[in-house]
Amino acid sequence: MDLSVRIGSLLLKNPLIAASGCFGYGVEYADVVDLSSLGAIAVKGLFLSEREGHAAPRIVETPAGMLNAIGLQGIGVRRFVSEKLPELRARNATVVVNVCGTTLDEYVEVSRILSDAEGVGAIELNISCPNIKEGGIQFGCSLNGTYDVVSAVRKVTRLPVIPKLTPNVTDVPSFARAAEEGGADAVSLVNTFLAMVIDIETRQPKISNVVGGLSGPAIRPIAVRMVYECRQTVRIPIIGMGGIADARDALEFMIAGATAVQVGTANFVDPFIWTKLVDGIRDYLQRHRIARVSDLVGTIDTHASATERSGV
Ligand SMILES: Cc1cc2nc3c(=O)[nH]c(=O)nc-3n(C[C@H](O)[C@H](O)[C@H](O)COP(=O)(O)O)c2cc1C
Repeated sequence: MDLSVRIGSLLLKNPLIAASGCFGYGVEYADVVDLSSLGAIAVKGLFLSEREGHAAPRIVETPAGMLNAIGLQGIGVRRFVSEKLPELRARNATVVVNVCGTTLDEYVEVSRILSDAEGVGAIELNISCPNIKEGGIQFGCSLNGTYDVVSAVRKVTRLPVIPKLTPNVTDVPSFARAAEEGGADAVSLVNTFLAMVIDIETRQPKISNVVGGLSGPAIRPIAVRMVYECRQTVRIPIIGMGGIADARDALEFMIAGATAVQVGTANFVDPFIWTKLVDGIRDYLQRHRIARVSDLVGTIDTHASATERSGV
């Protein structure tokens, strides 16, 4: 059974990727998870310099999900390259680096530094973080901004470039198309949904940033729909995410059109989820006599009759 999938020039041993911001820099999990068993690890978003992020409280639990406004706290790209990347390499992890910027030049510079480093598998351009004031989502909410960032980074790297799209726009597929036209090798979607939670006793927002990004099972059906719509629009691979909590959820995204999937919030609930996900996908492929997981991608059948669908 072949679980490998290809994202541009990057071959993943399986379609499961730890989502950025939900798996640290990977090394923190090395004692509990065999890092080389994951398809890849998308590390926490990195700017050129270190960032503190927002004041606490930064996360709050919601029905079937969580709201966060971490504010992209991070150690900066140079410290990542010198302090974290060597260990990730030693552990044979496939590394996707989530790249942030407040300006177009910063995206380019961070990507250039990563391209010169040994052990980076791909660049995921975070143009969709809802929790910072400058840059980020401002690029991701503009078709020209999306195109400009992707094409500028494309020019300075040979690594696969994977812009990560926001769901906080009306027409996600048009952003996927702008990314493809800019030279993206794949798109990943979705980042979190802008949301807020209020404590009615104090009448204060429950996180310091007032609004934050919603993730977890609550967003899954919307994210699946967005993957499905983007699959109809672009030819490049899609990395799908949003609320995946078991193998069935991962398979649902793949059937909708995702070549690979990322798992974020569920990792906070169960850091041992990875072996269960791989086993569940294997089991499904065996039951359905599918030899390669890549054969499942985009196989949704939208033509079944009402009788077929209800199973009567
Ligand atoms: C605490 C937290 C931190 C996150 N940090 C980042 C980040 O640094 N960069 C990024 O692109 N996405 C970040 N995300 C978004 C996730 O990578 C993912 O797109 C989103 O949570 C949906 O997937 P999930 O429902 O499986 O968590 C973060 C999400 C959470 C919950």
